[in-house]
Amino acid sequence: MANATDPASVPLFEARNISKSYGHVNALMDVNFEVRQKEVVGLLGDNGAGKSTLIKILSGVVNPDTGEFRRKGEKVDIGSRRRSEAAGIQTIYQDIALVRSMSIMRNIYAGREPTGPLGFLKMREMRTTSMQILENYVRIAGITSPDLMVEDLSGGQAQAVAIARAVHFKRDILLLDEPTSALSVRETEKVLAIMRELAEGGVSCVFVTHNLYHAFRVCDRFVVMAHGRTVKSVVKADTSLNELTDLIMTH
Ligand SMILES: Nc1ncnc2c1ncn2[C@@H]1O[C@H](COP(=O)(O)OP(=O)(O)OP(=O)(O)O)[C@@H](O)[C@H]1O
Ligand SMILES: [Mg+2]
Repeated sequence: MANATDPASVPLFEARNISKSYGHVNALMDVNFEVRQKEVVGLLGDNGAGKSTLIKILSGVVNPDTGEFRRKGEKVDIGSRRRSEAAGIQTIYQDIALVRSMSIMRNIYAGREPTGPLGFLKMREMRTTSMQILENYVRIAGITSPDLMVEDLSGGQAQAVAIARAVHFKRDILLLDEPTSALSVRETEKVLAIMRELAEGGVSCVFVTHNLYHAFRVCDRFVVMAHGRTVKSVVKADTSLNELTDLIMTH
């Protein structure tokens, strides 16, 4: 029986009573959202439902008007990008996660480069580790060297680098806001497969998408939002594509 002292019953991360207004627009109203260990959560809802606002709050780039956050039951401050990352959260946006005019290797490290005693960058170590990460996690076709520039990668390849970075720095929550909306079929399949592998390996994913077929294939649980509120949280076994479609259309 799960109870309050059983660590398995405590969510990996919780956002409680989150509200955020922009002038007269209530983007989020008293939203509760949790991420459990080893799960892919589908964050669903029509345009303007508040999904991206919630993702931005969780990644520390937007501050909510009210609410609090807990990691494994302990209150945490995620009021900046750095604090959100320190709480184990990494976010992948379609375009802005990476600096496009830098190499893959520098992107993976981005500000956390290992240095030797004299302050020189440990280039050889970075190159070897980057190649290992690429070989282990970035099996998207065409990435042959960590020295490739990110601007020369496709959308899916660039995302794979961001995923590699999250994995290397041992974040255990990955937020993906519409990661597949501009990807080819092949790249989309890779990103969907990577989400499943990450979850099984201990990195929970929050997947924002308008594609319910994709969501239904990879998610363990679905949170449906409408007009700034959460309408429903339901595990896959207790719902269907039809029900999710209805929930989104009728609110
Ligand atoms: N910076 C902002 N300034 C003003 N209003 C905003 C801002 N960001 C979001 N909003 C408003 O908040 C509401 C929620 O927007 P949000 O981007 O979170 O929706 P969404 O669920 O991600 O939609 P979509 O599926 O279209 O991406 C919308 O009404 C939007 O216009
Ligand atoms: Mg959005």
